[in-house]
Amino acid sequence: MDFKLTEEQQMIRETAREFAQNELAPGVAERDRDENFPGEQLKKLGELGFMGITVPEEYGGAGLDPICSCLAIEEISKIDASMGVILSVTNSLACHPIERFGTEEQKRRYLVPLASGQMLGGFSMSEPGAGSDAAALTTTAVRDGDFYVINGGKNFVTSGKNGDVFILMAVTDKAKGAKGISAFILEQGTPGMTVGHKEKKLGIRGSDTTSFSFDDCRIPKENLLGEEEMGFKIALTALDSGRLGIACQALGIAGAALDESIKYSKERKQFGKFLSEFQAIQFKLADMETQINATRLLIYQAAMKKDRGDRYSKEAAMAKLYASEVAMRCSIEAVQIHGGYGYTKDYPVERFMRDAKITEIYEGTSEVQRMVIANSLLR
Ligand code: CAA
Repeated sequence: MDFKLTEEQQMIRETAREFAQNELAPGVAERDRDENFPGEQLKKLGELGFMGITVPEEYGGAGLDPICSCLAIEEISKIDASMGVILSVTNSLACHPIERFGTEEQKRRYLVPLASGQMLGGFSMSEPGAGSDAAALTTTAVRDGDFYVINGGKNFVTSGKNGDVFILMAVTDKAKGAKGISAFILEQGTPGMTVGHKEKKLGIRGSDTTSFSFDDCRIPKENLLGEEEMGFKIALTALDSGRLGIACQALGIAGAALDESIKYSKERKQFGKFLSEFQAIQFKLADMETQINATRLLIYQAAMKKDRGDRYSKEAAMAKLYASEVAMRCSIEAVQIHGGYGYTKDYPVERFMRDAKITEIYEGTSEVQRMVIANSLLR
């Protein structure tokens, strides 16, 4: 197996790295402090083709392979994990299911503007009573002539306020449980839809997370994605891709924690020596580097399976499970290495620790990833 990146993959990594340094690094701490959405930066990222990285060029995307997508999300998240999730969600949870299950008309109407960065995508499945137990949805979709009428409520929608198009899961046949869920393409501002309050979050504070409520919200029947009652499979297929994206976000955070730790340990002196000269610190750095590289291999394994068109649910779950735990461990170690300063906002490592935590929770908690992995072993 050749671990060397292709020229194209190296180029994408360089472009993402440069963009992150030049466009995201300058305001990232302020956006985190003020909970500001990176709208301007997102527009520029769209112009670079990063909003539909793997989407074929005929549908407005960059037509690149899944490793390119992983590299881009990792590099962006290394500097700004909020932008990392916005990017991952629009690519994986909006573009990917439309590309995979959409009609030609849906692709022209939604995928082209999403992939070319004119629209931002999101995904709306979770409800107050249906988080890990995603099949317990209660939001309903009832066919009425040329429309589906949606009633109910959703929460934890990434880009709920700033997004333009969402993949919405709703129940069309209550008696059938998970097999009675259907997927729809929902446009922001559809009459009957209300965007609720923006969540006050511990981390990824530049990304907006909102609730939705639906009161006789009418979605045209043409916006049914796939067939009726295919919704749960569409959601889980999208989430395979989403979990791989979140693994890359976590990898970026872990890498940033290591970079800052190396830098600080070479600057800070205690007991007459640089921190980097203490074996206790060296061992922490060695463990971080080892775990980061193991994460990268899990991510590439899942991405290569995705590229081959094979099912990669287990590989994406393993990558996300491991990556998110590594991001958490590395960011906690980074704070520890920085000592008292690490606990202040003078250094970015406290933000890494806050940002890392959500990677163990959203798009399936670590416990859900273990369920997916165990199910695939025991099937
Ligand atoms: N491709 C094709 N089919 C697939 C598939 C895939 N990738 N994944 C699953 N399926 C199929 C299965 O084969 C199965 O089909 P049959 O019924 O015909 O056998 C069906 O879909 C159901 O799959 P499972 O039996 O594996 O599903 P389950 O009911 O056991 O799932 C669960 C349980 C894993 C806990 C699931 O409910 C789950 O993933 N929960 C977590 C939900 C989640 O991640 N939510 C996050 C929402 S998004 C978010 O966080 C916000 C954001 O915007 C970032």
